[in-house]
Amino acid sequence: MTYLVTGATGSVGRHVVAYLLEAGHRVRALTRDPGRARLPEGVEVVQGDLGRTETLRPALKGVEGVHLIDAADSAYAPLRNGPEIVEAIREAGVGKVTLLSGWSPGTLEPAVTGSDLAWTYVQPTEFMANALAWAEPVRERGLIEEPFAATKTAMVHEADIGAVIATALTEDGHEGHSYGLTGPELLDVPAKVRILSEAIGREIAFRELTVDEMRERHRAQGVPEEMIEFQIEVFGNVPEGAYQVTPTVEEVTGRPPRTFARWAAEHAAAFSRGRGA
Ligand SMILES: NC(=O)c1ccc[n+]([C@@H]2O[C@H](COP(=O)([O-])OP(=O)(O)OC[C@H]3O[C@@H](n4cnc5c(N)ncnc54)[C@H](OP(=O)(O)O)[C@@H]3O)[C@@H](O)[C@H]2O)c1
Repeated sequence: MTYLVTGATGSVGRHVVAYLLEAGHRVRALTRDPGRARLPEGVEVVQGDLGRTETLRPALKGVEGVHLIDAADSAYAPLRNGPEIVEAIREAGVGKVTLLSGWSPGTLEPAVTGSDLAWTYVQPTEFMANALAWAEPVRERGLIEEPFAATKTAMVHEADIGAVIATALTEDGHEGHSYGLTGPELLDVPAKVRILSEAIGREIAFRELTVDEMRERHRAQGVPEEMIEFQIEVFGNVPEGAYQVTPTVEEVTGRPPRTFARWAAEHAAAFSRGRGA
């Protein structure tokens, strides 16, 4: 069986590819730049752009299932050609579709979930990989500065998202389901900082930013305005209990979700002086 993976070079997609290969499937990976894809040996790498449906059509030929992301560019602008993508998948006679939720509402999610395709919609909460944004300040200054220190979130490990996607693509019983994925525990920012400190064996200081300070910094870094407002909406002033741990990773994969301590140990080098990301 061959599966087409879009976003295969991304933090989640690499795990989807790894799980599919491990299960003995063939993988075709769509990327805008095959020269930079660095995918494992045996993966068929094809050039394409999700925003240009005509480049997707040849990649869909002969595949059993397709994993989709909703990203039109590296800043995660939502795709505008959702209905066209769904039509191309139907025309190619592809059996299964998984869709990873995007940053903001777009055209792909309603087109997929409103279609007669055998779809599974995967909606993770905050990725643990987002903590990589702290790698440089930790290496350079041993300091993490964030707003909303008290907001507790249940970050999810990218490998668990990949495992759920690979399972939903290759096994029966997941069609028509929307899966909200979380990690195993609710952590506020100081708890995340403590866990990272333990993983790198060095004390990391924490200072809470005001919302205005955060806005200014993100603007200076060129973060799109919608993404800044999205972060304020998602992490700011959330009522106690707004974020809950879900049992879905274990229900789908049969394994408990990975902890942030495990993620931190796996990525300690990125936060350690002299080694780089
Ligand atoms: N970070 C979070 O907390 C979070 C939470 C929920 C959902 N998400 C969503 O998860 C998705 C994947 O995130 P990630 O962290 O795995 O991504 P990532 O590591 O930032 O990589 C981005 C991926 O998007 C692909 N891509 C971008 N524009 C494309 C286009 N026009 N055509 C084809 N591929 C394109 C890139 O492929 P190439 O560069 O190889 O072409 C790359 O594989 C995003 O849509 C994001 O919005 C993120």
